[in-house]
Amino acid sequence: MLNRYAIVLAAGKGTRMKSNLYKVLHPVLGKPMVQHVVDQLKTLDLASITTVVGFGAEKVQEQLGDDSEFVIQQEQLGTGHAVQQAESFLANKQGTTIVVCGDTPLLTKETLQAVLEHHEKEKAAVTILTAQADDPTGYGRIVRNAESQVSKIVEQKDATKEEQLIQEINTGTYCFDNVLLFEALKKVSNDNAQGEYYLPDVIQIAQQEQQKVVAYETEQFEETIGVNDRIALSQAEKLMKKRINEQHMRNGVSIIDPENTYIGVDVQIGTDVTIEPGSVLKGKTIIENDAVIGPNSEITDCHIGESTVMRHSVATSSYIGKRVQVGPFAHIRPEAAIGNDVKVGNFVEIKKSKIDNGSKVPHLSYIGDAEIGSGVNIGCGAITVNYDGKNKFKTTIEDDAFIGCNANLIAPVRIGKGALIAAGSTIHQDVPGESLSIGRAKQVNKEGYARKYNN
Ligand code: UD1
Ligand code: CA
Repeated sequence: MLNRYAIVLAAGKGTRMKSNLYKVLHPVLGKPMVQHVVDQLKTLDLASITTVVGFGAEKVQEQLGDDSEFVIQQEQLGTGHAVQQAESFLANKQGTTIVVCGDTPLLTKETLQAVLEHHEKEKAAVTILTAQADDPTGYGRIVRNAESQVSKIVEQKDATKEEQLIQEINTGTYCFDNVLLFEALKKVSNDNAQGEYYLPDVIQIAQQEQQKVVAYETEQFEETIGVNDRIALSQAEKLMKKRINEQHMRNGVSIIDPENTYIGVDVQIGTDVTIEPGSVLKGKTIIENDAVIGPNSEITDCHIGESTVMRHSVATSSYIGKRVQVGPFAHIRPEAAIGNDVKVGNFVEIKKSKIDNGSKVPHLSYIGDAEIGSGVNIGCGAITVNYDGKNKFKTTIEDDAFIGCNANLIAPVRIGKGALIAAGSTIHQDVPGESLSIGRAKQVNKEGYARKYNN
């Protein structure tokens, strides 16, 4: 097996983001940038992934969890200094180390794999992933000698006017011979415009020591963008969105307005699903075949069954079965389990409740902490009264019960199979199956009273 290691640089504060959130934790399509990078690295055949953390170390560690090892960079003295922090972990290991910045979220595993292979095929000491940028402002530039070999990388702030015209940029991804990397880092100084220890200075050092330095130029500049501010963040979001949406469209999903459809990286969508404009699909959501989502629906970590239609609605951490009608304007909160052929209509909120096949909650209801059987009809405005200000209680409604409009079911309470609850009832005792329950004040008509009162 090849000895390949990865180092992810994620210790910077990201001053240019002007944010309380550490830069590498800013999300692109719902996933933090550094997680994008690590997820791509995870697919490669690597012996270890080490992330250098500093600012917001705990938060970054919490985000990445078991996906990475961690080393701390106490003071942010530059990218070279950052890599040096991994020395105790990696020094003396024979093999290749790929270094990636935590702020390049669009890099794909294919490109990372290609750089590694190029590096190993060339038997190089250093391989730099480079790209041609229309506007290279802000990036380190690749300076080549007369033989067009890379001689050094110069940062924007240290570049001469001429060097600033170079359009080939350092993407911040490199492969190094691991032993050479840590040897060369000892020789890097901070004598530059920013007073930092630059990782790219390793290139010049390797070059001077007659080591083989090569560049691997990718055609895909867009894949390599480094996100330093919120303008670049919005560009990354746009590019990632386009990439993901096109992938789904190629797989047989109709996206009516891809510019206005936001699908997270880990969302799975079946064939012949239609996504209407303004929809946002997040987390580990799964959408089965023939479903119609949107317009304007927000779905996070849900399973949506075949042929289900969900218009203008929000659903989170829930299971929704086949041929379910949701919305418009429904809110399905965490831990709902909704069966097949169910209707959850307008202005209905469901929380932590099970609703079995064929039941209907068509209008203006709150269903919380409930277990509803199959074939149940919940009338307009009927609600479960699940909370007494201190504790939550459960409502059980058995199969084929009919709950009249505006009924209050005060939990804990059980409505038996096939029972009828009269409209406007407030029910606080269990209702046996097949019974009619009426819990409302008796109506009294006082004839002629209104006429007298109004005169
Ligand atoms: C860096 C490169 C530049 C390249 C660009 C690509 C250097 C000196 N410059 O510039 O040549 O074109 O990336 O996007 O390397 N970090 C630390 N510790 C530090 C400093 C930075 O962990 O002390 C991390 C940051 O969190 C970030 C990454 O290293 O994820 C890159 O740092 P950043 O300040 O964004 O470098 P750039 O100026 O973009
Ligand atoms: Ca950067």
